[in-house]
Amino acid sequence: MDSKTDAQRMEKIVSLCKRRGFIFQSSEIYGGLSGCWDYGPLGVELKRNVKNYWWRVIVHERDDVVGMDGAILTHPEVLKASGHVEGFSDPMVDCRTCKARLRADQVIEKKGVQQCPNCGGRDLTEARPFNLMFQTQMGAAADESSIAYLRPETAQSIFVQFKNILEVSRKKLPFGIAQIGKAFRNEINPRNFTFRSREFEQMELEYFCRAEEGMTLLDYWLEERLKFYENIGISRDRLHVKTVPDEERAFYSKGTYDIEFDFPFGRQELEGVAYRTDYDLLQHQKASGKSLEYFDEETKQRFVPHVVEPSAGVDRTVLALICEAYSTDEAPDEKGKMETRLVLRFHPRMAPIKCGIFPLLKNNDQLVAKAKEIVGLLRAHMNIFYDESGAIGRRYRRQDEVGTPFGVTIDFETLGERDAALRDTVTLRERDSMNQERVAIKDLAGILSARIS
Ligand code: GAP
Repeated sequence: MDSKTDAQRMEKIVSLCKRRGFIFQSSEIYGGLSGCWDYGPLGVELKRNVKNYWWRVIVHERDDVVGMDGAILTHPEVLKASGHVEGFSDPMVDCRTCKARLRADQVIEKKGVQQCPNCGGRDLTEARPFNLMFQTQMGAAADESSIAYLRPETAQSIFVQFKNILEVSRKKLPFGIAQIGKAFRNEINPRNFTFRSREFEQMELEYFCRAEEGMTLLDYWLEERLKFYENIGISRDRLHVKTVPDEERAFYSKGTYDIEFDFPFGRQELEGVAYRTDYDLLQHQKASGKSLEYFDEETKQRFVPHVVEPSAGVDRTVLALICEAYSTDEAPDEKGKMETRLVLRFHPRMAPIKCGIFPLLKNNDQLVAKAKEIVGLLRAHMNIFYDESGAIGRRYRRQDEVGTPFGVTIDFETLGERDAALRDTVTLRERDSMNQERVAIKDLAGILSARIS
């Protein structure tokens, strides 16, 4: 696809997200709050499915990982020790002509002269560091002592709680601590929809190990993470692994991979998998004066563990899922005439609604009662949607557009009016193939649950 069609595709995705209630601009009725987004009824379901599946495979299905949920407000000493207060900044340039605030790497150079990418102006300020952390005051006093920060990553509370969690979980190396939660960065130029936001969620695992295991575990976690994306429906050919070169890597990291995805606006990072050595724990041990050592019962040695960190963005994963799922094909309308069908081809595991339930006619009490009975039956197992309004084809299309993988129609055959053998059976329709099959109501929950997972 060329860049024009990619831009159009992105526009259509943003507009679908708003129209069908996935993602809205935050504070929209007041003109919007830049870099902040609100997830609507379908967006929140999709987001939860991503987080729940991550938690399941990273924490519940493993013996060597436990979870935590840390505070967002962070002690300044934590972020001084981690290097964020001093060094978590982007160089920034102001254009004096159009007043745009730009990241220095966005400034364009033509014939050796630096220019503003917005207005072409050449009157630019010198680049100066701009710290990306949001600072706030805690308590009544408004002085240095009351400063707190909104965390720029979830990782630091994991390092700071390392000793407590080690003691209560009684885990042996290698083991991990996982966390999902909000992070905040005052990005100079939030852009590409939710891709670069000022408030976002991360899913981070800090996997502690011995120094000699670091590089092997880095490769192990890269593969695990690639599998995760495939299992939620992102095809491997749209995922790319970038080995971050020495000059771009944090000085303490011995190896970092970026997992990238082909978004309509270009190939961009979804997740970083980094071997951070013992840097973080050593920094906090030094700054706090508290031991963060691990005692190896077998060798009787004490040492500060190393760590491998797969760090993923929830919002970026959700955006990648929507971009991957967005597609159109041809399907017959009510009269058999072919029309364009917009369909989100979500993996059933990720789909916000798993099954639509449709009585053929809304003014037939028996059909409606049967449909409501099925709603009651399935609700305990999955998120379903009941819809009785409009022609059945329209109802299918509305669900195709939000990625609902299955539809159940209750018709006169369900009531046994035409063929007694079909009593208490329904039509089960599959979103992508549009195939329909006849299924007994008593088997529905089992069939759907198996196909979803
Ligand atoms: N603890 C390591 C860390 O935070 P990072 O590469 O800065 O590393 C990890 O962030 C992930 O968090 C990114 O790969 C991305 O998915 C997500 N992320 C980072 N900044 C973001 C932003 N401004 N908006 C949305 N997601 C972001």
